[in-house]
Amino acid sequence: MGSEERASHELLQAQAHIWNHIFSFINSMSLKCAVQLDIPDVIQKHGQPMTLSELVSTLPISPKKAHFIQRLMRILVHFGFFARESLSGGGEQGYSLTDASALLLKDNPMSARPFLLAMLNPILTDPWQSLTTWFQNDNPTPFHMVHGMTFWDYGKQDPTLAHFFNDAMASDARLISSLMIDDYKGVFQGVDSLVDVAGGTGTVGKSVVEAFPHMKCTVLDLPHIVADLKGSKSLEYVAEDMFEAVPAGDAIFLKWTLHDWTDEECVRILERSANALSGEDAGSLTRDNSQSIEPYGESSSLGVSAHTQASGYGQHSLPPTNSWGQS
Ligand SMILES: C[S@@+](CC[C@H](N)C(=O)[O-])C[C@H]1O[C@@H](n2cnc3c(N)ncnc32)[C@H](O)[C@@H]1O
Repeated sequence: MGSEERASHELLQAQAHIWNHIFSFINSMSLKCAVQLDIPDVIQKHGQPMTLSELVSTLPISPKKAHFIQRLMRILVHFGFFARESLSGGGEQGYSLTDASALLLKDNPMSARPFLLAMLNPILTDPWQSLTTWFQNDNPTPFHMVHGMTFWDYGKQDPTLAHFFNDAMASDARLISSLMIDDYKGVFQGVDSLVDVAGGTGTVGKSVVEAFPHMKCTVLDLPHIVADLKGSKSLEYVAEDMFEAVPAGDAIFLKWTLHDWTDEECVRILERSANALSGEDAGSLTRDNSQSIEPYGESSSLGVSAHTQASGYGQHSLPPTNSWGQS
């Protein structure tokens, strides 16, 4: 390739790189649309690869829009959400599910559907449109700037949103707790009492006490999240602000929590958590922390977070690390 050709090639590559970023929202919006149209469930119910005409005739769409379904499916096949398979006995092709779309089925106990619908709700995505303005003023977060309050206060005044969001978190918690309990059993050895700080509606806590019946779990979260929830012999809900107090336990569990806060706030949460640790088991957990998933601190506690503290939407965000964090 001559230098002129190389320059043209590099120019086109640069343009493609920019365009990929410009239009990447189409990926998430197309996936959201497919989920809202129940396409994964419709294909699953069909029981075999589904042709385009079968799919179109089943979907609740205007007949005038039918031919656009092929375009929608093309992008989702490209990104691995659906596969194209030959139908038995003929050359015709049909759409089938992949692992990713199977995880979006409504009746999959670990379905990521509630999480997807919550995270792509305009309440959460609109603040991203105002990122530049947020940089230029003193608002603590883009969410606060657009909605006039923290995400948590928004949930307090709009129980439907809080419920919607709690469902999303619970769906993620079901998947993560299942993997964590299967793959990291050893982490829980010697732990008699666990405190799930900002543990939402207690999905992880319930799975943990079910898997380790000797254990007691305390789920701490804001009053409007846990006040009406009923605990059990081994699971207790505590309505409390984690910046004020954390109940005592052998180990502290934090999942999808620290990413919401600034570094200073994280230090306060971790200090409160470290102070809440009690008994010899607490120390032994971190001394033998080779089995812990993501330990933090010197000898303080167990930060079991699987993928959560370091990734997901928090990673893509700015301090405080997401668009709905509090300050
Ligand atoms: C992203 S969710 C994570 C929930 C849960 N740990 C999970 O992974 O499913 C963050 C949680 O922090 C809780 N939260 C926010 N501020 C809090 C505070 N000051 N004290 C206690 N919990 C708080 C929210 O109510 C919410 O349940």
